[in-house]
Amino acid sequence: MKLTVIGCGYLGAVHAAAMSELGHEVLGVETNQDQLHALSRGDTPFYEPGFSSLLARGLATGRLRFTEAATRNELTDAEVHFLTVGTPQRPNGRGACLNDLWAVVETLAAHLPQRDAEHRPLVVGKSTVPVGTARAVANKLDGRAMVVWNPEFLREGHAVGDTLHPDRIVYGLPDDPVERTHACDRLDRVYAPLLAEGIARLTMNLETAELVKTAANSFLATKISFINALASMCSATSADVTVLADALGRDERIGPQFLRAGIGFGGGCLPKDLRGLEHSADELGLGHVAALLRQVDVINRGQRDWVEQLAHEVLDGAPEGKKITILGVTFKPNSDDLRDSPALDTARRLARSGAEVTVCDPKGLDRLAERYPDLRTEKDPVRAMDGADLVILATEWEELTRTDPVQARARVTQPIMIDARNALVPEEWTGAGWEYHAIGR
Ligand code: UGA
Repeated sequence: MKLTVIGCGYLGAVHAAAMSELGHEVLGVETNQDQLHALSRGDTPFYEPGFSSLLARGLATGRLRFTEAATRNELTDAEVHFLTVGTPQRPNGRGACLNDLWAVVETLAAHLPQRDAEHRPLVVGKSTVPVGTARAVANKLDGRAMVVWNPEFLREGHAVGDTLHPDRIVYGLPDDPVERTHACDRLDRVYAPLLAEGIARLTMNLETAELVKTAANSFLATKISFINALASMCSATSADVTVLADALGRDERIGPQFLRAGIGFGGGCLPKDLRGLEHSADELGLGHVAALLRQVDVINRGQRDWVEQLAHEVLDGAPEGKKITILGVTFKPNSDDLRDSPALDTARRLARSGAEVTVCDPKGLDRLAERYPDLRTEKDPVRAMDGADLVILATEWEELTRTDPVQARARVTQPIMIDARNALVPEEWTGAGWEYHAIGR
């Protein structure tokens, strides 16, 4: 099938390459010149395991191309247009900015002719949007396309596997029964190899599909904030949150994932989608729903305060001039993404309080020193700890958690470790002479 994927950032680039892997002829549209040229050359503009070879395979077959703007013919030829533009949080923090999405919809409205339902192209929204957006897109396209919302659940670091082997595929379909059947059949053809594998396909209306996405991320965020709230109770009572989480997670109804207490969640998705859902709830007059989501955010931001305060305490309230090493700066391991990273936030807060901060990370250091000149960078974890008065493990990269405490002990001035991800084995560190602090244990 001929497809366009409009917006080739993280989600779109991976989706475009994955669709060509399924055998489709894909035109990726990207206006950012650096991103466009990188993708067209087969260079990966971000770190994502497995993406480089997927992209190379797509380009080599000739089925995957990228362009700055699709021509009228390319737009009218395609059977399906995927909308994968970014919908970042508005600068005021209230809701998502949909400017890029509306610009694309305007272009489609200007170029696509009116056709009967069977011959209309399918416009498939994958961007995360506030509930009600899909119906507004359909109204704007007014008979020029069938509109479906098909949210994406890929995780950074697992994007290729999550796209080609998702645990479910969600179709938010139009209300009109004729359009609904055509739209569903068309999308089934796009995903035929995945459906043949037996992956669950869930059909619903547009609003439910939009909500599935923000609700999923908000639920994950809630799970993390719940365990972090319990971490404070553990801390106040000598209980151990890692043991508690293990015992909770063995209940199948609760499950063990996203119960790792620590410095809290960050990234480009969980915080933004949580606040987006909170904003929608407020707009709908559902103050009690907004209050629940707001508290999840408050607890999450409190975790950063907790780590910062702990750092001040172990340095006797005087971080000025002290050497602090932050192990890990990306928002999670196996990603080079620094968006809303709790680790970076902590590093910057401590630098602002007068400490000399050195940051170590396997993938997150490019351009870091340029953007944040108050942070020193060092790729090697043991060298990064040279002369440190305090070490904070802030992102649990495997390369960092397997640091040898004995070797590290020999490099630091004061052997104090704050394990802000509860990712180390405490006995190994205390056994090597470290003062070890964690979150809720
Ligand atoms: C998240 C969702 O997991 C994906 O399903 C979704 O598709 C994606 O957002 C998106 O909307 O595009 P991602 O942002 O890649 O994926 O990151 P997660 O793996 O969900 O981690 C988010 C944050 O939670 C990280 O900062 C991580 O360190 C933190 N976290 C995770 C915890 O603090 N504790 C945990 O137990 C798990």
